[in-house]
Amino acid sequence: MHLVRFVLFIVLPLAFAVSPQYSVHLPCSTTDPTEENYVEACLQKKYCPGHEVDERLQGKIFADFLETLYGEKNVSKAFETYVDLNVIEHDPDDTQDRDAIVARLSQIIPFANMTILSSNFNNNIGLAHVKVNEDPEPAALADIYRMEGTCIVEHWDVIQFRPANSINPIAMF
Ligand SMILES: *[C@@H]1O[C@H](CO)[C@@H](O)[C@H](O)[C@H]1NC(C)=O
Ligand SMILES: *[C@@H]1O[C@H](CO)[C@@H](O)[C@H](O)[C@H]1NC(C)=O
Repeated sequence: MHLVRFVLFIVLPLAFAVSPQYSVHLPCSTTDPTEENYVEACLQKKYCPGHEVDERLQGKIFADFLETLYGEKNVSKAFETYVDLNVIEHDPDDTQDRDAIVARLSQIIPFANMTILSSNFNNNIGLAHVKVNEDPEPAALADIYRMEGTCIVEHWDVIQFRPANSINPIAMF
């Protein structure tokens, strides 16, 4: 009985206290620990407002955002988790109100058939080339996101439909 108490009240809390996962408050940008500890330590905090992280982790966060938005198609989760409340939005169909952006995209993305063809992250900019499968022809979407540290703070996009009288014989994809 004493041993059980010892383990429960002394050993376990101590293990939590000293394990890097729970005790580390390292600045995410300055050290080079093992990948797991590094990610764990940085992800203790919320992504927005942004805090400094190295580019590798920024790229991972951006990839997770794309997966939530276009894979999982959970628009509110994607924006509330990864996008700044004061995001600068350049899409002319949107306003500067993040909730309004979420409301509009929630009427589109969950019902759209979209495939991410490629994505990349470099120098604070994330790119996604997206195929929007529509009838009769798929449309091409290019998304550009700027991050400040862990948080997406600005967005541009362009979308292209194949015109009926296109002079280019090759497919858009
Ligand atoms: C989106 O994610 C939130 C938070 O994880 C969850 O509560 C909600 O049910 C999800 N919505 C959909 C439509 O999956
Ligand atoms: C999405 O579009 C692709 C290509 O047109 C098609 O193969 C796939 O079945 C579609 N998926 C859904 C869920 O409609």
